[in-house]
Amino acid sequence: MLIDGKGISQKRLAALRADIAESGLTPCLATVIVGNDPASQMYVRMKHKACQDVGVTSVGVELGEDVSTEEVVAAVARLNDDPAVHGILVQLPLPGHIDTEAVIEAVSPAKDVDGFHPENIGALFSGRPRFVPCTPGGIMTLLAEYAIPTSGASAVVLGRSVDVGRPMAALLINADATVTVCHSRTRNLEDEIRKADILVSAIGKARFVTKEMVRPGAVVIDVGINYDEDGKLCGDVDFDGVAEVASAITPVPGGVGPMTIATLMENTFAAAKRQIC
Ligand SMILES: NC(=O)c1ccc[n+]([C@@H]2O[C@H](COP(=O)([O-])OP(=O)(O)OC[C@H]3O[C@@H](n4cnc5c(N)ncnc54)[C@H](OP(=O)(O)O)[C@@H]3O)[C@@H](O)[C@H]2O)c1
Repeated sequence: MLIDGKGISQKRLAALRADIAESGLTPCLATVIVGNDPASQMYVRMKHKACQDVGVTSVGVELGEDVSTEEVVAAVARLNDDPAVHGILVQLPLPGHIDTEAVIEAVSPAKDVDGFHPENIGALFSGRPRFVPCTPGGIMTLLAEYAIPTSGASAVVLGRSVDVGRPMAALLINADATVTVCHSRTRNLEDEIRKADILVSAIGKARFVTKEMVRPGAVVIDVGINYDEDGKLCGDVDFDGVAEVASAITPVPGGVGPMTIATLMENTFAAAKRQIC
């Protein structure tokens, strides 16, 4: 079974558009981008476009490559203080000289629609999530939409990043899965992967996960966005081979990516409701 993230995201965004219209609220997302990285600029444009499609207003703060951490923190503080802004997204990665942690911690937890603030990460890990990071949040939505059972399932998460691997593990624990988190120091990685009923790969290595590593019948969720030697976009999973043994699998593109943006929009509406209502 192909897990159609694009289709599900369109369905969720249409429902959200209706909910926002019915609420009479005008949620507002502010994005902050530092420097001229083309990929970051493209992601920010996609987020503004999604806002427009669902009835969320958006403002963009663009800062030069050579700003200081203090200047980025000050820009975030102005957005925290602006009652017309309900959600704040700082596009990552920031240039190397910026203290990313300081910037993330500067975002008001009430407006932290990316869910990266330590207070929101802590709430998630304590089993009482408020804002859930958008990529793992979108993956949980996909599992729910396809009625894939998590309770008691053996889930393996490849990658332990703060934006994907760790919150993914927390969400799966909260959903009663038995979770193993693997990373670059994991011993016998293939044996660990083979234990998965649900495999989520977020390592950023083109077609790393092959058919031989996957337990027949497993559900395979591919977060990776990579380019192979021919410059072709691909995930962490060797899709053609793994699709032969998996019971369900996400494609790249058209799987997890669109769900990330849909979840950002849902988080922004939730933030607006909490702040206004
Ligand atoms: N679709 C989306 O919306 C979306 C959103 C976010 C990210 N992504 C994509 O997802 C991928 C991961 O992103 P990220 O931000 O989590 O990356 P990251 O911060 O670079 O983390 C990668 C993780 O993978 C682990 N890893 C790397 N090579 C490994 C190997 N050979 N075996 C086992 N573990 C290995 C690393 O282990 P160590 O911790 O030991 O270094 C690290 O924990 C990237 O391709 C990114 O573009 C997609």
